[in-house]
Amino acid sequence: MKNLVIAVDGPAGAGKSTIAKIIAEKLNINYIDTGAMYRAITYKCLKNNIDIENEEHVIEIAKSTDIDFRDNNIYLDGITINDEIRTIEVSNNVSNVAKIKEVRFLMVDVQREIGTRNSVILDGRDIGSYVFPNADYKFFLIATPEERGNRRYKELCEKGYNTTLEEIIADIIKRDDIDSSREFAPLVKAEDAIEIDTTGKAIEEVVESVLSKIK
Ligand code: DC
Repeated sequence: MKNLVIAVDGPAGAGKSTIAKIIAEKLNINYIDTGAMYRAITYKCLKNNIDIENEEHVIEIAKSTDIDFRDNNIYLDGITINDEIRTIEVSNNVSNVAKIKEVRFLMVDVQREIGTRNSVILDGRDIGSYVFPNADYKFFLIATPEERGNRRYKELCEKGYNTTLEEIIADIIKRDDIDSSREFAPLVKAEDAIEIDTTGKAIEEVVESVLSKIK
């Protein structure tokens, strides 16, 4: 039987990973958080004091890195790094890593390989527009910057970060701007993607909207 591929794209904090994880469980298919892959490379660069502006160095790091997903964990060179990739420092640097074309080629190869092996739901920025242009279903989630900022702010406060809502909203807008304006495979809604505005909606409501399109 043909593998099912579901693409979930959209800007930071629109609810992509929360929704994709639930859909994966309900449909009993794999979930791939593609943003986590770019975060993993960023984390490795920061840990090794690699200057993110130095594209050649970042590409070298990406080439010599093994990224794997198993049982809802992400492994960087064999070690789980679920929490390490969610820091503000990684968030503030990841867009500059993700805009490097050669890094994207390497990550996309892994994503396509996983997608041809099993049925999968992937969340990211370019899944429906570039990685899987023939995906069976494509969703594009959006929400206002205030709502997206609020969600991230709450997550970070729970983790003990000392930050402000204004700072987080500004970081999100900056990240979206870099992601949307990069030359290669930018953040864009695929023409045939179904757009869902998650502003003010409960998680279950969004899950229902997505499932109603799939069934
Ligand atoms: O979804 P996230 O916030 O974890 O994504 C982290 C960064 O990676 C974000 O700046 C956009 C980038 N990204 C990308 O360029 N392409 C993807 N498919 C997924 C994420």
